[in-house]
Amino acid sequence: MQIHVDSEKKQFHLTNGRISYIFHVMKNGQLGHLYFGKALQHRADFSHLQRYDLPTPASCHPYEDDPAFCLETLRQEYPVYGNSDFREPAISLRKEHLRHIPHFQYDSFQLLEGKPSLEGLPATFTSEKDEAKTVQVILKDPFLQAELTLNYTIFRDKPVITRSASLKNGGEEKLIIDRMMGASLDLPDKDFIFTHLAGTWSRERHVKERKLESGIQSISSLRGASSHHHNPFLALKRPDTTEHSGSVFAVNHIYSGNFLMQVEVDHYDTSRVLAGIHPYDFSWELNTDDSFQTPEVVLVYSDQGLNGMSQALHNLYRENLIPAQWRKKERPILINNWEATYFDFNEEKLLDIAKSAKELGVELFVLDDGWFGKRNDDTTSLGDWYENVTKLHEGLAGLAGKINALGLKFGLWFEPEMVSPKSNLYQEHPDWAVGLPHLPHTLGRNQLVLDFSRSDVVDYLYEKMADIIKRTGLSYIKWDMNRNITEPFSQKLSTERQGEFFHRYILGVYQLYERLTSEFPDVLFESCAGGGGRFDPGMMYYAPQAWTSDDTDAVERLKIQYGTSYVFPIYSMGSHVSTVPNHQTYRITPLSTRANTAYFGTFGYELDPGKLSSLEISEIKEQVEFYKKHRCLIRDGNFYRILSPFFSNETAWMVVSKDQSEALVGWYKVLATPNPPKQQTLKLTGLDASTVYEVNNEGQFYFGDELMQVGIQLPTEFNGANGRIAERGGDYQSQIFYLKRTDGVNI
Ligand code: DGJ
Repeated sequence: MQIHVDSEKKQFHLTNGRISYIFHVMKNGQLGHLYFGKALQHRADFSHLQRYDLPTPASCHPYEDDPAFCLETLRQEYPVYGNSDFREPAISLRKEHLRHIPHFQYDSFQLLEGKPSLEGLPATFTSEKDEAKTVQVILKDPFLQAELTLNYTIFRDKPVITRSASLKNGGEEKLIIDRMMGASLDLPDKDFIFTHLAGTWSRERHVKERKLESGIQSISSLRGASSHHHNPFLALKRPDTTEHSGSVFAVNHIYSGNFLMQVEVDHYDTSRVLAGIHPYDFSWELNTDDSFQTPEVVLVYSDQGLNGMSQALHNLYRENLIPAQWRKKERPILINNWEATYFDFNEEKLLDIAKSAKELGVELFVLDDGWFGKRNDDTTSLGDWYENVTKLHEGLAGLAGKINALGLKFGLWFEPEMVSPKSNLYQEHPDWAVGLPHLPHTLGRNQLVLDFSRSDVVDYLYEKMADIIKRTGLSYIKWDMNRNITEPFSQKLSTERQGEFFHRYILGVYQLYERLTSEFPDVLFESCAGGGGRFDPGMMYYAPQAWTSDDTDAVERLKIQYGTSYVFPIYSMGSHVSTVPNHQTYRITPLSTRANTAYFGTFGYELDPGKLSSLEISEIKEQVEFYKKHRCLIRDGNFYRILSPFFSNETAWMVVSKDQSEALVGWYKVLATPNPPKQQTLKLTGLDASTVYEVNNEGQFYFGDELMQVGIQLPTEFNGANGRIAERGGDYQSQIFYLKRTDGVNI
C-alpha cells in the first residue's frame, strides 16, 4: 500500500496492488483525474493519461492560447460549474450576497498514516497501524478566502478508496455553501449498466439495472432518511460483468439523510458520478473560521464481478466501520414479541413467551413497541419514555430482572426521534416537533418528528434512554424510526439557515447514537426504520445490525436479503423466523424454509412459541442449535451469491470461511416444477479446488473442484410418480448444505 507523490509534477498515485487511483494538478491549479481501476505499475509520469484534444469550435476555454485546455472535456476530481465545464459540479458556494464561480487552486498536501475521523459523522476507521494511508490535498480560493481539503484514503488489501471534502472559511465575510458533494468521479466512457437497490416498505433493496445513457440518471432521497426507496448505493458494471467476473465500479455513501447519487453522461460519452448530500433544500452558512465536513463516500473497483464488489464492501464494513467491540462478538439469537402480541401484552404474557423461548435455546428477549406511556395502539405516547405500569406492573426493571433470571438477556424498542401529538412530551414542548408554525403538521403513522437539530431535544432523549439502560441493565436496543420528515423546519434555526435543517437533524441522530454507544459500549444496537428504511452504512457505524425489513415472508426475504447483500455483510441483516400465514403476505411457507433463509443474517424469532406444535418446537430447537454452531462462519466468511431470485425460480448463496475449510450453502426453489429434470445440481463457488469436503457430516466426500464444476447433487424432487423416493416437493422448497474440509480421506 503506497501513496506516491511527485511534488514536482504534482501527481498522486494511491495503490495497494489491487487498485490504483491517480490524479494530478492541472495547469489552472484544479485537480485533474487520471485513472481509477485495476492496479497499474507506478511510473515516473502519468500526465499522458490526461488527454488534451482540440474541442469543437463552439467550446469554451479559459486560456486563449490553449484552446485544447477546456474543462468541458477534462476529467476532474472536484469540478465547479461556470468556467467552461457545463456539467453539474461537486461544489457551489458564494459570499452571502455575491454570485461567484469558485476557483480552488492547489496549495499543498499532507500524507497521514491511517485515517483521521470526521467530526460528528460516521466514517470508516482503522484500528491497526499500516491498515490505511491518507492524502489530504489542500486547495484555496483566494477571492473567497476559503480552503478546500480533499481527503483520499487507501486501505491495505482492499480495492477501496474513501473520499470526503471539507471547507474552511478563512476570511472575514460569511460564505454560503449551496452544494458540496462527498466525491466526484469522472469515468472515460459510458459503457455501463447502472445498478442500484430500490423498493419500498416490505420490499426493500430489490436489484434494479438499466443501461447508462446520455443525460443525467440519478437515485436520491429527500425524505430526511436514506429511505426504503433508494439505498445510497450505485454500481456501474460493464455489460459483460457477471456475479463472478468482469469490472464494476461501486459508490456508497456513509450517510443516513438526504442524498443524491447521479451519473451524467455527456456528449463525448464520458460519465461523471457525483455522490453526496442532496443539494435540493440544502445550504450551509460558514462564518469566519467555521468548517463544513461532507460525509464520506466509498469507491470500490472490482475486477471480480459483483461478488468481488460485495466482498470488498463487506470486508470494509466488518473491519473498518462497525463498532470494533462487535467485530468478533457473537450476536445473540433473539425473540421479539412484536408479531406475537403487537400492542396487546402484559407482564405475564411476555414472561410466557420468554420462558418458552428460553427452552428453545433463544438468548435474548426483545420487548417491542407498546411498553410506555398509554400506548395501546399507534396513536399515542411516543416521547413519553416511562413504562406503562398497567401492562408492566413491576415496571421495566421488574420485568428485566425476571427475564434475566430466566437466563435471557433483555432488550427494548425505542423510537427516540418521534413524538405523538397525544403525549405529555408534546403538550409540554410543542415547539420540539419539526414543522412550520403557520402550517398544519402532516402526520405519518399518527406521529410527528422531533427536531433533532436542537441540542436540547438530543440531551432530553439521552437522559431518558441512559436512565432506562441503567435501571434495567439493557443488553440491546432496537432503534426504530417510522416516518419521513415533512414541513422540514426547525423553530430553533433562523429563516436563512433552514437549508441546514436536514443535515443538522441527522447530525443530532448521530450525536445521540455516539453518546449512547460510547457510554454503553456493551449494549447492542439494531437500527430500524419501519423495517429497512434506513439500512445504510451511516447507521452501521453505530449499530452493527439493522432490521432488514418488516417483511419476514421467506420468499420475499430471498429478494430483500439478496439485494441487501450487494452492499452489506450478511451478519448485519436482522432476519427472523415468523409465523404463518405470514403477516405481510399471508403466504404459508414451511418452517424449514423460513429458517433456511433467516440463517443468512443475525438470526431470531418473531412469533409466540406458546402457539407452536411439539413438532415445531423440536424443529426450532434444532434450528437454534444449528445457528449457534455456524454463526461465526456467517459472521466472518466470504459471501457468494450463486442464483438470483430476480432472474429465476431458484435462489442460491453460500458463505465460505476465509481459510476455505468450511462452507454453508442455501438453496431455495419458490415454485415446484412439474416433471422436473432428473439431474438437478447446484454449482458452488469459492471453495478450494483440491480440498476434500464432507457434505452434511454424512460420509459423502467431494473435491472442491467437482463441487464447483459439476455441482452438488440436489435431493430428488417429487415428479408425480416417485412418491416413495422423493426427498422434496411442493412450493417453497429449500435445502442447506454444510461442507467441512476433511483431511486424510482418500477418494
Ligand atoms: C416498525 C418495525 O419495523 C417493527 O419491527 C416494529 O418494531 C414496529 N415498527 C413497532 O411499531
